[in-house]
Amino acid sequence: MHPVNEILLKQIEDYIGNLFVPPDAALEQNLKEADAAGLPAIAVAPDQGRLIYILAKISGATRILEIGTLGGYSTTLLARALPKDGKLITLEMSPAHAAVARKNLDRAGVGELVEIRVGRAGDTLSRMIEVGEQPFDLVFIDADKAGYVGYLNQVLQLSHPGTVILGDNLIRHGDVLQETPPDEMAVGVKAFNALIATHPRLESILLPILKSKVDGMSISRVK
Ligand code: SAH
Ligand code: DHB
Ligand code: MG
Repeated sequence: MHPVNEILLKQIEDYIGNLFVPPDAALEQNLKEADAAGLPAIAVAPDQGRLIYILAKISGATRILEIGTLGGYSTTLLARALPKDGKLITLEMSPAHAAVARKNLDRAGVGELVEIRVGRAGDTLSRMIEVGEQPFDLVFIDADKAGYVGYLNQVLQLSHPGTVILGDNLIRHGDVLQETPPDEMAVGVKAFNALIATHPRLESILLPILKSKVDGMSISRVK
């Protein structure tokens, strides 16, 4: 494998950021609060955040589902794409993460659009399917990577034709290129990639996301 030119990648990220990603006090504060509370720095990068915001807007989504809240960084961007009567449900296992996210979302002025459901996402999704939760227009899958295939199968039961499904962290610095990837996270997303590539109910593409660690995000549309 060729080494990645991290300096060039950083310069490209800065170039795109300076041109296309407006300064954003609420999001900067979000990251500060998350860091102060000891959350890991694994939110989407600002340029990828801009991408999911624009995709959500283009989709015209009024109901959004997020799996993996952390401090609510991506949640804030997705919620901003909603109309005033829209709704975002975000699933988070850690009560501590959910508490940080709640404060951040309220401070960013999108708190009223967002419901955080605390618990293991697989359990929460099962309950949502059981009670016949209305389908979602856009879903962002970004929690534990080993769970992605299960989440996709559950999300498909909460979708309608036209639902957009996004999956984060699908390249993992090239780990998915290995026949047997080195950890359960890469194994999980490699299986997810193979599934969305051929799933009879989906049309999909996987985009490389260039940051210092090369990663990827998928975009799928439910048939
Ligand atoms: N979407 C966020 C980042 C999410 S990081 C952003 O870009 O801003 C992944 C989150 O998933 C973490 O907060 C972690 O606690 C949560 N998580 C991990 N396993 C989970 C599970 N089984 N159910 C629900 N949440 C889970
Ligand atoms: C990492 C990044 C993510 O976006 C995520 O959801 C989980 C982990 C990481 O870089 O380790
Ligand atoms: Mg992620």
